[in-house]
Amino acid sequence: MGALLSTRRLRLRRSTPDDVDLLTDLDSDPDVMFPELGYRIRKPFWGKGYATEGSAGLIDRAFAELGATRVVAETMVVYTASRRVMEKVGMRLVRTFFADWPDHIPGDEHGDVEYAITRAEWASGSGRTGCRGAAISGSVRPAGAFRRPGARDLSSLRT
Ligand SMILES: CC(C)(COP(=O)(O)OP(=O)(O)OC[C@H]1O[C@@H](n2cnc3c(N)ncnc32)[C@H](O)[C@@H]1OP(=O)(O)O)[C@@H](O)C(=O)NCCC(=O)NCCS
Repeated sequence: MGALLSTRRLRLRRSTPDDVDLLTDLDSDPDVMFPELGYRIRKPFWGKGYATEGSAGLIDRAFAELGATRVVAETMVVYTASRRVMEKVGMRLVRTFFADWPDHIPGDEHGDVEYAITRAEWASGSGRTGCRGAAISGSVRPAGAFRRPGARDLSSLRT
């Protein structure tokens, strides 16, 4: 497979099924492992609580099954619905930041926000809703996954 980018010592390419052992090894190391969640909901289904339900289920899985210690979510400041989803699953605002994105998205002049929930907060019930196995298009992705162009319209969760 062709490289997306080559540097002096690195050849950056898309991962393939042949990389599964390397990815498993990477994700087995608690110092580098973090799940990442992305969600998008088809418009007819907005506002029905699906993103909240799915996010809560995936957070439950991150803590209960993957051994995560902290889950972090990022979105743009202006994505109010996404921020509301984060709040509803018990996450708290950690910071507002301005990243040097190569691509411009309307509203990014207001920056991005990071939300988080710790295992202790989740275990105390502040963010736990008990929702499991929700049917949204979400996935737990390994650390090191490239941020796709335009990925700021996706919320991301990582430990
Ligand atoms: C963001 C998105 C994933 C949310 O999915 P969803 O299933 O509709 O979310 P939920 O129904 O679980 O919760 C949405 C919450 O945001 C609130 N909300 C929606 N639009 C809002 C707005 N413009 N301003 C303030 N709150 C808003 C809803 O009222 C709801 O909160 P509530 O339950 O307290 O009333 C979905 O709307 C989507 O895919 N949008 C695509 C465009 C987009 O905004 N993407 C940014 C993603 S980071």
